[in-house]
Amino acid sequence: MTNIVCIGAGYVGGPTMAVIADKCKDCRVTVVDINSKRIDAWNSDSLPVYEPGLDEVVFRNRGKNLFYSTDIPAAIKAADIIFVSVNTPTKTFGSGAGKAADLQFLEKTARSIVEYAEGDKIVVEKSTLPVRTAQALSQVLHANTRGLKFQIVSNPEFLAEGTAIEDLNHPDRVLIGGMDTPEGHAAVDKVADIYRHWVPEDRIITTNLWSSELTKLVSNALLAQRVSSVNSISALCEKTGADIDQVASVAGRDSRIGARFLKAGLGFGGSCFKKDILNLVYLCEHYGLPEVAAYWESVVKINDYQATRFVGNMLSSMFNTVADKKIAILGFAFKSDTGDTRESPAIAVCRQLLDEHARLYVHDPKALENAKLDLAGCENVTFCEDPYEAVKGVHALVIATAWNSFKDLDYKRIYDLMEKPAFIFDGRNLLDAEEMYEIGFNVYGIGKEPKTRFRK
Ligand code: UDX
Ligand code: ADP
Repeated sequence: MTNIVCIGAGYVGGPTMAVIADKCKDCRVTVVDINSKRIDAWNSDSLPVYEPGLDEVVFRNRGKNLFYSTDIPAAIKAADIIFVSVNTPTKTFGSGAGKAADLQFLEKTARSIVEYAEGDKIVVEKSTLPVRTAQALSQVLHANTRGLKFQIVSNPEFLAEGTAIEDLNHPDRVLIGGMDTPEGHAAVDKVADIYRHWVPEDRIITTNLWSSELTKLVSNALLAQRVSSVNSISALCEKTGADIDQVASVAGRDSRIGARFLKAGLGFGGSCFKKDILNLVYLCEHYGLPEVAAYWESVVKINDYQATRFVGNMLSSMFNTVADKKIAILGFAFKSDTGDTRESPAIAVCRQLLDEHARLYVHDPKALENAKLDLAGCENVTFCEDPYEAVKGVHALVIATAWNSFKDLDYKRIYDLMEKPAFIFDGRNLLDAEEMYEIGFNVYGIGKEPKTRFRK
């Protein structure tokens, strides 16, 4: 039986290991974390991560071949393969602050592995890392004085939140990078064996270590770039009378462009896109490529601009003041079907509205607890479990996350509950603007001509 251990029980490690345990009954999978509260939650009925389908996978395997534990030394000792899935946030201090990845958690993990390992191990990088991190990892691991040998393998995770279980069950590709040596190839093959339990061979792609590390950064950068591209054009649409959904859908019909990931909105959030692009920018600067760095940095700049532009539009539409006005924020998660709010554009929108002295009523079906943390210390924010509670007496309603359930709300009832004139600022182009206008709202989408009852 192969003993698989994952260090880091977060959004990536937790679901990924649950699916590996589900598919590989001949493996024993243990997920460890220094955060005992997180581990307790993984062992409870209320998992620390919300993902459609996750509960079922965890509940049917937990205690059989899937274990969540804080006993890191025991897990390392027993492991054949160690996945490292700790957080690698953007550095907030010192050299490279604001761009480079903070690798302290990774290095601490490597040091724990050295301390507790009693035999050779395969160490798999699952966290997204700068290119050539494997080299540093190898140097820390091989500084051991007991002659232990480690093979470093890169196996980046491409799952998206909200569809993690589906993505893990049916990946477009599994990427495994290793050293170009016989031992390196053997380690890659051993990791590929895990995925061969359910992933077709032609979807398991092997490369050298550095290509694998870089591919993860580039995949996220290319996806984010599409979002920024379409968002930049949404600004032009608002000036010219073009409609961004029409433009994107027709452009996307060209099979070379493709239809997906062209939805204009408030901007991308999530733990990966911004962090990975800034990481790429830092790498380019480090390697003396300032033009390339500036190119990718503009993707983040357009993203920040989109939220600022949105609030600017709100302000000018609401007669240049929102001071003391009540505004409902429907949705706070960075995308639908997740409770995750990391880098959610809703945070920037709320903060800017609060700077304008608005009073906010925030509702999200899954992300209220995280929203409370993100806006901790802010006055004039009320968190509402019930969307109808959130809209009572407000001047405007903002759609910040494209939750499907928001489409099914009773907007006539909402209109009746709101101050008049009633505004909808649909930051995700989720609602049928014509229908909302018919009810009586003044409707502002992204990259669309506003539908208002005001005389021009
Ligand atoms: C992303 C990558 O998709 C995934 O492969 C990688 O492993 C991790 O990063 P994730 O951040 O979970 O996944 O979500 P994703 O669906 O990519 O959405 C990211 C952000 O972009 C969200 O805020 C979403 O609202 C926004 N987005 C996405 C758009 O604004 N428009 C789109 O067309 C697509
Ligand atoms: P991701 O989205 O990449 O999964 P998360 O922040 O959700 O990131 O999860 C990373 C997890 O790694 C956290 O639960 C954190 O406590 C854990 N972690 C960080 N450093 C260590 C370490 N040295 N040993 C064990 N777990 C760690």
